[in-house]
Amino acid sequence: MAKNKNNQAIWGNRIKNNNSTLFQRIGSSIDIDKRLFKEDIKGSLAHVEMLFKQKIISFKIKNKIIFGLNKIEREISNQKFEFNKKFEDIHMNIEKRLFQIIGEEAGFVHTGRSRNDQVITDLKIWIKSATYEINSLLDKVIKSTIKLAEKNIYTIMPGFTHLKNAQAISFAHYLMAYVEMFQRDKKRFLNNLENLDENPLGVAALSGTSFNIDRNYTTKKLGFKKPTNNSIDTVSDRDFVLDFLFSISVCSMHISRIAEELIIWNSDGFNLINLSDKIVTGSSIMPQKKNPDMLEYLRGKSGNNYGNLFSMLTIMKGLPLSYFKDLQDDKEIVFKSNQILTDSIKIFNEILKNISPNKKRMLEIANSGYITATDLADYLVKKHSMPFRKAYQKTASIVNLAEKKKKKLNQLSLEELKKIEPKLTIEVLKVFDLTNSVNSKKSYGGTSFANIKKMITKYKKLK
Ligand code: ARG
Repeated sequence: MAKNKNNQAIWGNRIKNNNSTLFQRIGSSIDIDKRLFKEDIKGSLAHVEMLFKQKIISFKIKNKIIFGLNKIEREISNQKFEFNKKFEDIHMNIEKRLFQIIGEEAGFVHTGRSRNDQVITDLKIWIKSATYEINSLLDKVIKSTIKLAEKNIYTIMPGFTHLKNAQAISFAHYLMAYVEMFQRDKKRFLNNLENLDENPLGVAALSGTSFNIDRNYTTKKLGFKKPTNNSIDTVSDRDFVLDFLFSISVCSMHISRIAEELIIWNSDGFNLINLSDKIVTGSSIMPQKKNPDMLEYLRGKSGNNYGNLFSMLTIMKGLPLSYFKDLQDDKEIVFKSNQILTDSIKIFNEILKNISPNKKRMLEIANSGYITATDLADYLVKKHSMPFRKAYQKTASIVNLAEKKKKKLNQLSLEELKKIEPKLTIEVLKVFDLTNSVNSKKSYGGTSFANIKKMITKYKKLK
């Protein structure tokens, strides 16, 4: 950018001394918010169209400003734009450049607006499109999960509570649990748009403006649902930022839970899943190692996102109305969290394509830990009309017996079983069969094969 008389701060007439370079460096946000240039120019274009429609600026000036703004957009897109820390942020960098391109009339662009409404207009537009981007990434992950689930409907594994064998489940059913989480995430992100979708532009610094502006017009132009109702609240409000950060945190938390689980399952102790070489790393000293680094990254990074949510909550805590510099940090936090989450979703999608169940081992573990005990209790209720509590006690005694004899439930003889419950017949042995066990959970949402297929079909139809 050529040097000219405009090369001083916008408030240069009022504030005679320049800030120290330290203050400029700390106070400026241009390195962070320059990525809002498209949103900022979009907002300015809508604003000047509106100013012209309302006869606040002339046709000629409007066109000049539009010409300048379009040129600036091209310059920034083509990396031909020189950002200057002295002009603090993206709004003033663009305005300053507009002066250079079209001269004094650039000064009309800021009629009836302030950076306070400008910055949140930009950020809202940005978060809205980031939301759609996240949701389309989640769609991809959902698709990959369903694909893996489809291949594993009949893969039987132990389901855990307290990380102890609980009941047998299908690996597909387990995977479809992720799909539920990601569907909720998508919905949570979309729900946020309801509150976000109010146009801040035109509330100006904090009290509105005396110009006869048309906020409904810019609302439409910028794709918002309606204008915000209260100018003071508008410039102070960062709830939409918190909502976004919260949704990111929840989604990251889901990913971290899955990551942790896969790390455990991949451990040599469990050995329930295999990770392909594409997603593991080696050790610098231990030649045998294949470490699940990427899963550990996913587990760890959720912590950064919680931290970002807490930073923003803390910035907002006790902050009086309306605008304060404290708020300037919101963008860095949002961009960082968004980056971490989108990376995490992409990484997780890769991981899904590179894991395979160790079916033999899954079955082996599922066959230990008396996993069909509940099935036996249910059987006693159904077959011998026992109250569930009594059936539970009988089964516990059978488990104790098996443990004492160092046998699995299905290795106990009928005689041994009959010692505890004389009514039992040879038929009871079928309840110890894991496939029967999984397939018997036909209640809505359960792990029966038919249920899983229904859910897979349902979610495949959704997208
Ligand atoms: N760069 C500022 C921010 O991000 C824009 C708003 C500045 N407003 C002000 N009154 N200093 O928050």
